Order: sequence, then C-alpha cells, then structure tokens
Amino acid sequence: MRVTIVGSGFVGATTAMRVVQKGMAEVVLIDIIEGLPQGIALDMKESAPVEGFEPQITGTNDYGDTKGSDIVVVTAGLPRQPGMSRMDLLEKNAGIVSGVVEQVREASPEAILIVVTNPLDEMTYLAAEVSGFPRERVLGMAGILDSARLRYFIAEKLGVSPSAVEAMTLGSHGEAMVPLPRQATVQGKPLTELVDDETLEHLYQRTRDGGAEIVQLLKKGSAYYAPSASIAQMVNAIAGDTKETLPVCAWCIGEYGIEDVYVGVPARLGGRGVEEIVELELSGQELARLREAAEGIRAKCRDLAKIRS
Ligand SMILES: NC(=O)c1ccc[n+]([C@@H]2O[C@H](COP(=O)([O-])OP(=O)(O)OC[C@H]3O[C@@H](n4cnc5c(N)ncnc54)[C@H](O)[C@@H]3O)[C@@H](O)[C@H]2O)c1
Repeated sequence: MRVTIVGSGFVGATTAMRVVQKGMAEVVLIDIIEGLPQGIALDMKESAPVEGFEPQITGTNDYGDTKGSDIVVVTAGLPRQPGMSRMDLLEKNAGIVSGVVEQVREASPEAILIVVTNPLDEMTYLAAEVSGFPRERVLGMAGILDSARLRYFIAEKLGVSPSAVEAMTLGSHGEAMVPLPRQATVQGKPLTELVDDETLEHLYQRTRDGGAEIVQLLKKGSAYYAPSASIAQMVNAIAGDTKETLPVCAWCIGEYGIEDVYVGVPARLGGRGVEEIVELELSGQELARLREAAEGIRAKCRDLAKIRS
C-alpha cells in the first residue's frame, strides 16, 4: 500500500506521522515548498528507533515519486485565519486543488482520493470533476472529525471517557452539520435520556463552531490533531479493506432521496473506496436537514463552476 499525502503542512505532516507509525502503508509526502517534505520525512525517520516503527516515508516535490499510489490524501491549500469562514477559502483553494488533482491523475490513475482541503464538500466535488475518477474513488473527510468533536464535548460535559461515547453527524462541514441525537449513546445509554434539549443544542452548536474555536485560540492556522486522526481512520479502513461504516463526504445517487451531490453520509469504506452508502433510519426532521445540507452544497458547487469558467 502506497499513500501519498499532498501538502506537508500541519494536517499533512501529522497525518503522515499517524499512518507511518501505525504501519498502515508506505507514505510519500509532497509539497510545493522545496525541502519541507524532505525535512519532515527525515525527522520522522529519525524518530523510528525510539518509537519502534518501520521508517517507510519519503519527502519530495516531484509527482514522479508518487507514481502508482493506492490512496492520495489532498491537504494542500490555505487554512482559515481568525474571522474567516471555510467558504472564504473557496477561490484560492479551488485553484490549488485543481492543479494538484491534475498531477495526481497523471501519476496515480487508479488511486482513491481523500480530500481534506476546505471548503471540504465543494473541494471534494471539484476533485471528482477534475480527476474524472469514478465517484466511489473520491471522498472527503469531515464527518469523522465533527463526530469526534461532538463525542469529546459530550464526554467532557458528562465527565466520562470519550471512548464511552458514540455519536454521529452528517450533512455539511459547518453550519449545515446534521447531528443525530437518536444515534448517540453514553456507556450504551441513549444520550437524550442523560441531557436536556438545551444542553444538547449547546453541544451541537459548539461542534458546529469546533473548528472556529480552535482557529480563534491558535490565532494562526487551524486544527490538525483531530483532523489527522480522522484522516488516518479513513486511510486505515481503505488500506485494510475493513468495511467500516464511517461518516464521510460521499457522492449520493438517490440514497436518502439525495441525487448527484457530495454530502456527509455514513459510508462503508473498503479497498474500493466508498463501497456502499449506509441508509440509517432518520427522523423526518433529520432527513429534511440532510437534504437541505445537500442542496446548500449543490448551490455552492454551482458558484464554484461559475468562478472556474
Ligand atoms: N476537512 C477538514 O475537516 C479539515 C480539517 C483541518 C484542516 N482542513 C484544511 O486542510 C488544509 C490544510 O490545512 P493545514 O493546517 O495543513 O495548512 P498548512 O498551511 O499548514 O499546510 C498547507 C500546505 O499545503 C502546501 N501547498 C500549497 N499549495 C500547494 C500545492 N499546489 N501543491 C502541494 N502543496 C501545496 C503548503 O505549502 C503547505 O505546506 C486547509 O485548507 C484547511 O482548511 C480541513
């Protein structure tokens, strides 16, 4: 298994570390900045004797060195600064992502693309358009991260270990995130029996604003520990053909009554990428919110098409 990570900034470098340390695959780290991926790769290799892993990582500025990758993770692009929305990155990152994907298509025509660059849903659509890859081989990371943030906030609120909390969010990465209260449990008990509606709403809003809260604290750049953990879980599911069901940004063809648009849904991931979109039983309100999120993304993708033409 060969995984290329495009963009060797905070998200790309921490993802590389997680994938290599856990021995999921050989990693090629690439960036436009000369020396950056090479330096990060060397530094990581030098940690191998202490951490005890196989140092299967190289850094490069040349797509020739990424040839034949099975998975390509796209993290290239600008992160948010305080006061910016993810949509403020649209035009600039669209240029970066299309340039990157054109080169990835040449070097690794059979790869599965995991898009991370923001605004996530629109960049995933763009990557699918530019690559021309079958839609099941192009997906985006957001739902695992949003769900992880929600799970952590629930654990913090109730004073339990995060591992005791299960919760899932669907929809768009941002304001149109769709929480699923009926799927959330704490030590096996339904979350809705443990907290009141007002607390629930507060937890959801903190999750929607989770990225902005970190941007505000860091003052420069955005989150990368929880994002890289989420990407690594997707890489593991695909590289290991685990068939896990995870919330990801995937192309819908009628599931949930949603047609021809990328949106956050539960999907079974395996060696072929998105192997199936899993249709959970949603309440009428949850379904309406999911469809609304999908329509919002569709409209933004139309705006994106106008910018590109
Ligand atoms: N989907 C999510 O949930 C999620 C979470 C966190 C961050 N992000 C997004 O991920 C992206 C990266 O975030 P970061 O914190 O790593 O930013 P960063 O600035 O630390 O790193 C970005 C890297 O991309 C590189 N780059 C720029 N143009 C390139 C090109 N054409 N080819 C190759 N590399 C190029 C830069 O040189 C830089 O090293 C941002 O768009 C951010 O908003 C998404």
